[in-house]
Parts: sequence; structure tokens; C-alpha cells
Amino acid sequence: MAELVVRRLLIDLTEPFPRHWNGGDAFKSAFLNALSMSFPVGEQFFIDAVREGVKALPAAEQERFKAEVAGFIGQEATHRRIHGLFNGHLQRQGYANTWETRAKKRIERMRGLNVRHPLAVTAAYEHFTAILAEHLLAYPHTISDDVPRLKTMWLWHAAEESEHKSTAFDLYQALGGNHKWRMRWFYIVTLYFMVDATRQTVRNLWHDGELFKWRTWKSAASFLFGAEGLVSRTCKAWGAYKSDNFHPTQQETDRSATWLRDHAAQFTVVGQGR
Ligand SMILES: [Fe+2]
Ligand SMILES: [Fe+2]
Repeated sequence: MAELVVRRLLIDLTEPFPRHWNGGDAFKSAFLNALSMSFPVGEQFFIDAVREGVKALPAAEQERFKAEVAGFIGQEATHRRIHGLFNGHLQRQGYANTWETRAKKRIERMRGLNVRHPLAVTAAYEHFTAILAEHLLAYPHTISDDVPRLKTMWLWHAAEESEHKSTAFDLYQALGGNHKWRMRWFYIVTLYFMVDATRQTVRNLWHDGELFKWRTWKSAASFLFGAEGLVSRTCKAWGAYKSDNFHPTQQETDRSATWLRDHAAQFTVVGQGR
């Protein structure tokens, strides 16, 4: 079982930040803003899925997961709070969050399903966040140093996503979740994630008046499909989930631990899941 530490980030999110906070790059700011807009609703869903999942286990198994699940919930609850503050600034800048509205409707439609379904959805999204996190930690210059507190926020979140990437997956397996449904939800989540991320990014760029500018598309092409591009670099890791024998720890690196060790002055530990 993973040992998950809950941290309080020592950054000030009360101060506003520039519209194109990510190095003055409209696309890179709009894309990360879009992701952030999905986090509070998504992470609450993950928390609920994991909380209900552990309750459905036999008592002895519950004990095995108790500490890790407490750490997972603590980490995701902290992410929700921090991204809620970040998103508050986006709202004041006039951006409309339609990803959240669509996600809430889908979550509503899942009510009443067996706990394995929301857990399979959570495990799939956690795979997405883990590979995105690994990418950000491998290429930290993706996030500009212009606003250091925002860079810290993104890389701290990435480091913790990497730490807790197995929790929902292990719970799904412990509850007897099968490969067939794990894959069904993975493909659905992949489709939703790509469509939602694209729609929200386009909407953010439209709001900025940057959608039809050549430099926006040039940045998008390089950010997604360049030599260090998000899609180019994460395709293989995405596909690894399809294996019968997949486990999130197979993609382990020490980047998360290294970042947390090197930036220990930027947070305090407020709790330990185990
Ligand atoms: Fe998170
Ligand atoms: Fe997560």
C-alpha cells in the first residue's frame, strides 16, 4: 500500500495573475486553465468513488486500504481547494466553465450504479492524470517561471497525482472489477477527456480573442505533437493501460519523489495516510 502524505501548499493564491500566465502563451495557458476547470468536480467524484468503494469491501480488506484511502482523499480534497482558488481568478477574468456543467450531468446519470463503475472511471482518469503528471515533471519548462507560485501549484499537484495513482485501481481490483469493464470505461473516459479538454480550451481561447491566431495554433502543435509534445510523449503510456497485466506502478519513476524532496520548503506536511 502506498504511503500518502497530505501537504499544505505555502503559496499565495489570493493575488490575481495575468491572463496568459504561462509564459505569455495563450494556448498553454488556455489548455491548463481548461484542465483546472475540471478538477474540483472531477476530484470530488474520485473522492466519493474511493470512499464508497472501500465501504463495499469486507472488513479485513477495509483495514488494508484505510490509511491509503485517507491519504488519497486528503490529497484530492487539497487539490480541489487550491484549484477552486485558481478557478476563482479565471471566473473573474470572464471565462465560462462548461466542462464542469457537462461533468456534473454525467455524474448524475451514474447514480445508483455498482461502486465498481465509478471506481473504473476514477482509475481511468487517474491514469490520465498520472501520465500528464509524469509529463509535466519530465518537462517542467512546459510551465513558465513567470509566475513561480503557479508553477509550484502545477508541479505539486503532478507529484501527488503520481503518488496516489494506484489507489482507485487497487480498490477496483480488490472489489473484483474485471478487465472488460475497466477497458469499456477507459475508452469512454478517453473520448470524454479529449472532447472536453478540446472544447474548454477552444472556448477559453475564443474568450481571449486568440483562437484564430497563427501563433496559437503553432504553440498547440508544438505543445501537443512536438518532440517533447504531450501527445507524442504519452501515447505509449496511455496504451499500457490496455494490458491485462497493467498496474499503475509499472510506470513508476522517481520524478515525483525528487520534486517533493527538492521543493520541501514550499509545503508543510499536515497529515499522513499511513
Ligand atoms: Fe488531484
Ligand atoms: Fe488523483
